Amino acid sequence: MSASETKTPLTARRGASLSGTITVPGDKSISHRALMFGLLTVGETRISGLLEGEDVINTAKVCRQLGATVTRTGEGAWTVHGVGVGGLKQPEEALDFGNSGTGCRLMMGVVGCHPIRATFDGDASLRKRPMRRALDPLELFGVRVVAQGEGGRLPITIEGPSDAVPVTYESPVASAQVKSAVLLAGLNAPGITTVIEKEATRDHTERMLQHFGAEVTVTPHGEHGRRIDLVGQPELKAAPVVVPADPSSAAFPIVAAAIVPGSDVTVTGVMMNPLRTGLITTLQEMGADIELLNPRIESGEDIADLRVRGSKLTGVDVPAHRAPSMIDEYPILAVAASFAEGPTRMNGLHELRVKESDRLAAVAAGLAAAGVDHTIEGDDLIVAGNGKAPGGGTVATHMDHRIAMSFLVMGLATTKPMTVDDTGFIATSFPDFVGLMRGLGADFA
Ligand code: S3P
Repeated sequence: MSASETKTPLTARRGASLSGTITVPGDKSISHRALMFGLLTVGETRISGLLEGEDVINTAKVCRQLGATVTRTGEGAWTVHGVGVGGLKQPEEALDFGNSGTGCRLMMGVVGCHPIRATFDGDASLRKRPMRRALDPLELFGVRVVAQGEGGRLPITIEGPSDAVPVTYESPVASAQVKSAVLLAGLNAPGITTVIEKEATRDHTERMLQHFGAEVTVTPHGEHGRRIDLVGQPELKAAPVVVPADPSSAAFPIVAAAIVPGSDVTVTGVMMNPLRTGLITTLQEMGADIELLNPRIESGEDIADLRVRGSKLTGVDVPAHRAPSMIDEYPILAVAASFAEGPTRMNGLHELRVKESDRLAAVAAGLAAAGVDHTIEGDDLIVAGNGKAPGGGTVATHMDHRIAMSFLVMGLATTKPMTVDDTGFIATSFPDFVGLMRGLGADFA
């Protein structure tokens, strides 16, 4: 199924406490990157724990269109035989990324500095999202934008130069996708490509460049930023990738356990990369009982099991500079804030407006449907926090998996049930969400 044609609503009801131990699927960011690095490497890249959600499956298909042999060998186990940096094949048809901004923007970087012509496309949600943020730096390398929709939207056709020039780029947006697109394009440009980011964003591309043998250095820049220098045209060396559990998916059972009284849930093997743990930090500040068990390092990433118990939460002020480390978690944080005592102020959420939906608007509409007092002041969301949320409404998900999962979690603790109008897009990132949550005791019907 892609971009479900028929809507599949679901209702969540308050019931008994949640309990049990679960493992959520592999990290989406790392899964996309693992396939792309496999494509850019000659030889066999073995991946385990790959997220088999629609977004990543679309990236796998695109890797095949660009010349890789991509094979599923078992559950979450995949091999990629790639073509190497500089070796991409001219695709015969448009590259379709479905719902995924990450797949699309990162692949624009991968393809950018290859002398081929490729058309990028996606579903109705992706066609609304801004792509100039990736195209602007790519043009500096010599990439030509042959065709684009209004305002730099998909479908977009680009043609790469045969003599790319390296680039130094200071990104105007705090975006790991933009940073990654520039670094991936820089792989096939001679000399050093540099990206400067004012706010450090998730660094999976930098880590994977190192893991595959590229020469990359990362240095601090300003108070919260980084400078990344990459030596172009390396011969990447095949390396196995073990994908840890996605903290952005773990966020849903974690918040569910925190807001449903008496719950005791453990989520195992969750990636704890410090650029992804903003939600955990914030929930702990709110008083959530979260224990980090068995901390370890696997494949260069910090991992831990997280034990979460039903907690009394208090409202907090979430600083804007924390946004990159929890950018996908604001919808579920807004749900947690609805059950806290006192206001939670989430500052600097402008980037939420350009996600799979306008998430600021979608979250506000969902809170309104649940009868939760809240206001938007500029780019800040303030949830009043009365300690409980009435519920009883239906939430429009706007083709956005995280809106659907957030408000289903909310319905596990509201006085009256909550309904989401469409659960189809949950399959983009967390295909077994409903089954896993039911296994913990969630009443979804
Ligand atoms: C991602 C970066 C973030 C995030 C997205 C995944 C990545 O997007 O929202 O889900 O894998 O690089 P932005 O770079 O647009 O903030």
